Amino acid sequence: MRVSAAELVVSAAQAAQFPKESLPQIAVCGRSNVGKSSLLNTLLQRKNLARTSSTPGKTRQLNFYRITLDRAAPFFFVDLPGYGYAKVSQAERESWRRLIESFFEKSSQLTGAISIIDSRHGPMAHDLELLAWLATLALPVILVATKADKLSNKARADMSRKIAAAVSNLPLKNVLFFSAHTGSGSNELWKAVTDLLKE
Ligand code: GTP
Ligand code: MG
Repeated sequence: MRVSAAELVVSAAQAAQFPKESLPQIAVCGRSNVGKSSLLNTLLQRKNLARTSSTPGKTRQLNFYRITLDRAAPFFFVDLPGYGYAKVSQAERESWRRLIESFFEKSSQLTGAISIIDSRHGPMAHDLELLAWLATLALPVILVATKADKLSNKARADMSRKIAAAVSNLPLKNVLFFSAHTGSGSNELWKAVTDLLKE
């Protein structure tokens, strides 16, 4: 995919800072440290656009990236703060939850979500909770199992079955494997994203 432009428009710590510009938005969500920011950098072919870190809990704001693909109308990828990070105070966790909920509930421009899980672990309790909640919003969801470079072919086939069983009751658009390190899965993910934008 040719990405003509990708820029961070706003890093929002509260709902009042969400961009006013009316463009389709695709949320990128997942556990803390699962690889959300790395996935965006690889997908957009921009090394350091989204800040990544081996320290969990790095992304604490909602980061709105305005993306323009070759000759297409622009849209936003919204990199959300990760959930499920144990070393965060109850109060802070609560404020994150409220911020993220207000984003999902208020954003009339939301076109879909990319929900990311770790392909070594499969969907964990928090992931399934988020997926079930997204299903209640009737939002199209692309499920991405990232860090696929850490799996052998056999482990990947086993995980593929395990994921299919865990999410069989959920209305997911696609389930695909991805690696930010090798770029595998990028073409499939772009196909799924551009299909979402066409709907
Ligand atoms: P928070 O913003 O803290 O919620 O984290 P995040 O979900 O944005 O994760 P981030 O992209 O910062 O990556 C976390 C760690 O996982 C980093 O050390 C990355 O190098 C590593 N990582 C991310 N994607 C991959 C991948 O596809 N393969 C491998 N092997 N490591 C990855
Ligand atoms: Mg991040």
